[in-house]
Amino acid sequence: MPADVVVGLHWGDEGKGKVVDVVLSFPRHHQYTVVGRYNGGPNAGHTVKFGEEVYKLHQIPTGILHEGVVSVLGCGVVVNPDKLYKEIMDLENRGIKITPDNLLISDKAHVILPEYIEQDRKEMLRLGTTGEGIGGTYSRKYARTGIRLGQYVKENNGAAVFLKQFVKDTEEFVLAALKKGEYMLAEGAQGTFLDIDLGDYPFVTSSHTTAGGACTGLGIPPTEIEEVIGVAKICMSRVGEGPFPTELGDYWKLKNDSGESLNSNLEYAEMAPQELFSITSDDYQLARSLRRRGFEWGTTTGRPRRLGWPDWVLTKRAVEINGVTKMAITKADVFNCIPVKVRIGGEPLYSERKYTWETIIKETEGRRHLDPNFIHFKRDMEEFVGAPIDIISYGPDREETWM
Ligand code: IMP
Ligand code: MG
Repeated sequence: MPADVVVGLHWGDEGKGKVVDVVLSFPRHHQYTVVGRYNGGPNAGHTVKFGEEVYKLHQIPTGILHEGVVSVLGCGVVVNPDKLYKEIMDLENRGIKITPDNLLISDKAHVILPEYIEQDRKEMLRLGTTGEGIGGTYSRKYARTGIRLGQYVKENNGAAVFLKQFVKDTEEFVLAALKKGEYMLAEGAQGTFLDIDLGDYPFVTSSHTTAGGACTGLGIPPTEIEEVIGVAKICMSRVGEGPFPTELGDYWKLKNDSGESLNSNLEYAEMAPQELFSITSDDYQLARSLRRRGFEWGTTTGRPRRLGWPDWVLTKRAVEINGVTKMAITKADVFNCIPVKVRIGGEPLYSERKYTWETIIKETEGRRHLDPNFIHFKRDMEEFVGAPIDIISYGPDREETWM
């Protein structure tokens, strides 16, 4: 039976991890029993708050945090064996049970070798890659000189010995599950405009991040795909080089701003609330403020994320290319009390109307509802981009979700 896809509509970091978690936690139509990753590798970083715990997942699907769900790493992903071993161990140490019954890794996934990581260090400057060896591994795969995991675990020691138990023909497993009538969720990594073909080449990653990648990267027949859930963060963000039409402030300045670097992350987390909510008309300062509100530093590299106004032109394009049937909006609260302008293309570039709301959820006579001022934004966005907004996330907790 059907497979649904969760896909990022921008440049990654839209909050796909939280959306997958919510969709698994509050099943409305059906319970998913399989969750699969179809692209990318340890370049990805999903931060998921699960109860009181915060998990940073890189290679393993968010499904692993849910009982009764089988997690699959499909043939479209690339795997760093040592890092994957460590990620599994870290999760086990925190009480998450991982066995060959709930984690399956495709024998066709390609292996990231240390030499590719070496090479990638050069691309870090030119493209702003994560330095995880992604480009080199996919290059070898397409040159047909790569090493697949099935072969690797047979011929190597160390992490390979441990990982062997998880390595299977996952395509067969996926097809069998779908035939049995089980529901599957395919979890994208990165976002639409980082897709190797459909993104802003060369400032892209080396895999298919878009919904079509779910078919080739997990072996899902295209006719089995039912819903495509597009995830859009309310503000735009990008890490690394590349075009960013609605960017707030100067990227060059941000790169040289040591105050925004990884080391200061913890200080920010402890910063006084007034500072977090300072609102200014200076674009660069506004971006700094948003960065603190949304904690916008890369999960994998710790780099400060570039931030920008909502870009409905790009979002519409992403909705069309992925065939999005419904959208999830994340971090809706970061613009609370800030007049928001949106890019709609043409002349003028930005909407004349600015949207302002104080809060996302209001309570009237004990009933919770969306703030009418936020509803204006929501309706206009739905109309412009052409897909309904079905899920609104306004905080890291599962419960901070409107659906
Ligand atoms: P690579 O995937 O490491 O080769 O990096 C290529 C580009 O994609 C760089 O701009 C990275 O910052 C970006 N990128 C890769 N993975 C992610 C992600 O998970 N979130 C956001 N950006 C990413
Ligand atoms: Mg991320």
